Amino acid sequence: MSSTTADHSKAQPAPPGVMVIFGAGGDLARRKLFPALYHLMTDGLLAENFRIIVVDRRDRDAEAYRAYIDEKARPHVSKAITDDLWQELLQRIHYLNGDFQQADTYTRMSTLLDEIDRDHHTGGNCLYYLATPPDFFGDIATRLHAAGLSAEGPDQWRHLVVERPFGRDLESARALNRTLQAAFKEDQIFRIDHYLGKETVQNILMYRFANSTVEPIWNHRYIDHMQITVAESIGVGTRGAYYETAGAMRDMVPNHLLALLSTVTMEPANSLDGNAVRDEQAKILRAIQPILPEQVLTDVVRGQYAEGIDSKGEHVPGYRSEARVASDSATETFVAMKVLIDSWRWAGVPFYLRTGKRLPGRFTEIVVQFKQAPNMMFRDSLVRREQVPPNTLVLRIQPNEGIGLSFNAKVPSTVPQLSPVEMDFSYSDYFGDGPTTGYETLLYECMNGDPTLFKRADVIESGWELVEPILDVWQALPPRDFPNYAAGSWGPKEAEALMSRDGRGWRPCKACSID
Ligand code: BG6
Repeated sequence: MSSTTADHSKAQPAPPGVMVIFGAGGDLARRKLFPALYHLMTDGLLAENFRIIVVDRRDRDAEAYRAYIDEKARPHVSKAITDDLWQELLQRIHYLNGDFQQADTYTRMSTLLDEIDRDHHTGGNCLYYLATPPDFFGDIATRLHAAGLSAEGPDQWRHLVVERPFGRDLESARALNRTLQAAFKEDQIFRIDHYLGKETVQNILMYRFANSTVEPIWNHRYIDHMQITVAESIGVGTRGAYYETAGAMRDMVPNHLLALLSTVTMEPANSLDGNAVRDEQAKILRAIQPILPEQVLTDVVRGQYAEGIDSKGEHVPGYRSEARVASDSATETFVAMKVLIDSWRWAGVPFYLRTGKRLPGRFTEIVVQFKQAPNMMFRDSLVRREQVPPNTLVLRIQPNEGIGLSFNAKVPSTVPQLSPVEMDFSYSDYFGDGPTTGYETLLYECMNGDPTLFKRADVIESGWELVEPILDVWQALPPRDFPNYAAGSWGPKEAEALMSRDGRGWRPCKACSID
């Protein structure tokens, strides 16, 4: 993370350049990319001579595309829109009508880039953003290379941004990495995991390493276990076709959940330099104990939602009745698992991860549960050991972003009595401003060539190494009990058992409809 990440109000505008968006007619461009560009512009972080080329197969022109973005992206802009500024952003759009599987598109792109560079002094810098289905990633990178568009001249950068999924297993991830690296150098490739763009995720490192009270107790001596939950109340929606090929494990675990796990467990890096931080993340991921086939049955739980009542009290269909989902689908929409990390710091500390769709609320949080106080000096009092719950620290990633600490305090009374109480830090109280898309920081860092928040090839591959044996066992043993949880519930009962077997329990969600 560059020092600029920490305080955007003091940051300089990104260098000039052209952002080329492939798949500009899709969801990502209108929901995330254009709102993020606008937010950067309002913060003065976009260069005056920054331009955008949208590549789209549809036969329309720049004016038609601007009207489309005006209508479709506006609702996703969270900051107040100033008409002049919004129009200025739209006027920076150039339209390239073409099929990104045709060589001719790249020839015309090269000519257009030269023209833009001449007219707008973009320094020959380019950010190629692949907002396309993943099947096209390798091909587009290869074609950019073949057209001479990946080569960087002196004092010039050409960066390739790839959105996940990065492959669907270890082999395909490796193959994709090889193809991308044949076309671009590793330091030109920026693999996005949008969880790393979230302010609250970036704050975990700041919180851990900028506070002297935290790090001394951040280890197996004081921490009993951690829980990482990424719960979603929505179902699979219109993404049934994709989800059938992915499932909750591929969709969330090797990327988002492991990004959270590595951030909360990594060793301090020597500096905030991109590779120093990523080296530590890679090291901790490599230290996760491999899950053996026989452990899959005990330490990993899968689930699929049946119909039920969602968090708004509405009746919703089961996964198998969603559009473009097989009526006998074996795809999991819920995963819970326990992992251990073989390191000095984390020896014996279990990490429980869970994620799922159609749960009782949308929230992402990391619960750090500390060990109980070693000695109860209240032995002869009314306070019994089980009435002294262990301290917990909750890092709330979303919503209601913040950090809460619960500890025990004496209830005012003549007899000694304890009660758990909470201290709470909320982002909005301190810093105002609602959450942005998360893409602002990622785009800005990519233009500045800072790779810290992006995934390196080895990090991606470590993620797949962990989950692949699980996927293999699941494929060999199709689920017999699907669907096994009602929409609006906390997932299959085995997820509770995963914790209760160890004498622990998931922390109830205060903001959700049911616990
Ligand atoms: C995406 C997954 O990467 O992350 C989706 O493909 C999921 O299935 C989404 O809904 C969750 O992201 P967020 O930021 O809403 O927590």
